Amino acid sequence: MNSAEIKINYSLKAHNTFKLDVYASEFYEYDTESQIIDFIDKGHLTGKEFLVLGSGSNILFTGNFEGLVIHPKTYGISIVNESKDKIEVCVSAGEIWDDFVQWAVNKNYYGIENLSMIPGTVGASAIQNIGAYGSEVSDLITEVKYIDITDKKIYTINNKDCEFSYRNSIFKTKLKNKVIILSVNFQLQKSGSLNCEYTGIPEALSCFKNPGLKEMRQSIINIRNSKLPAPEDIGNAGSFFKNPVTDNDTYQKLKKDFPDIKAFYENNSKIKIAAAWLIEKCGLKNYEHYGASVYEKQPLIIINKNNATGKAIFEFSEIIRKKVFEKFGLNLEPEVIIL
Ligand code: EPU
Repeated sequence: MNSAEIKINYSLKAHNTFKLDVYASEFYEYDTESQIIDFIDKGHLTGKEFLVLGSGSNILFTGNFEGLVIHPKTYGISIVNESKDKIEVCVSAGEIWDDFVQWAVNKNYYGIENLSMIPGTVGASAIQNIGAYGSEVSDLITEVKYIDITDKKIYTINNKDCEFSYRNSIFKTKLKNKVIILSVNFQLQKSGSLNCEYTGIPEALSCFKNPGLKEMRQSIINIRNSKLPAPEDIGNAGSFFKNPVTDNDTYQKLKKDFPDIKAFYENNSKIKIAAAWLIEKCGLKNYEHYGASVYEKQPLIIINKNNATGKAIFEFSEIIRKKVFEKFGLNLEPEVIIL
């Protein structure tokens, strides 16, 4: 491969949704699986600090990236299995997640409609186990294909071996920085019912007569537009923190001190506390730290309100964590990858 294809000192401003003006020492983008396989085969990643950057919608750069950024631009959706009721599709890692959702909805395939408008790529959806409005992508993924950068071999692992949990997977733990995802397979249904359980969905759907997949997608888009800031207008990376999960005892104690606490049962013994509520109760809605702030309608989202640097956004996130811990004794874990 020609080394000229690696760009030097490359601006990532258009590649991160916080819109931070940071630079990567090296930048390589590829259009096909065979290009990245060849790149790895030739040793271009060996011994190097590297980062796979999809849409940069879940990442905070606190400074320049002193290493090689690789950017997948591999697109494509192909059918691998089809029966009367189900269809399994293989989607390239660089495909834009919401383009895939749009494709499925247009074809009338059920399963991912509640995940409409989530920013990012298909490869990242598996790493992060994206979820919203009562759906999680781990319920639909059948397998993930990746290349191991050490032995340079291609592997396919099934859903169980991906070790999915709330916004987590093996790609954030054991396989972190060790592999590059090439494609993800999803199982979709040819018929089904809409998942309307999440707060706000029935209201959003009520304006449609016989809501189907298209109406569900439109409703989710409407809810998201009314609650979440568009990265094109205000720099942000979606939820900055995960919702903390506690046991029943901790929750009951908190409920005594804060009767209006917002929480949701995960199962009988685990309770997810609404981090947005915790942040709001710390009085952080109107707080600004060197241009970093939280979004008023959804304080779980940190925004780049006024030319904040990555460092300022990080400092602000630490202020939030400290205040929430002091008031509630709960530890907010970042959902965004901080570099
Ligand atoms: N809330 C407040 N004050 C506010 C806003 C919200 O107290 O100003 C409380 C409300 O009680 C609300 C609760 O927070 O019921 C939960 O809010 P929301 O429904 O917006 O969901 P979330 O738990 O804050 C999660 C995901 C979002 C996803 C929404 C909808 C995480 C970390 N975030 O947010 O995902 O869109 O549910 O399903 O789980 C993302 O990951 O980037 C993301 C945006």
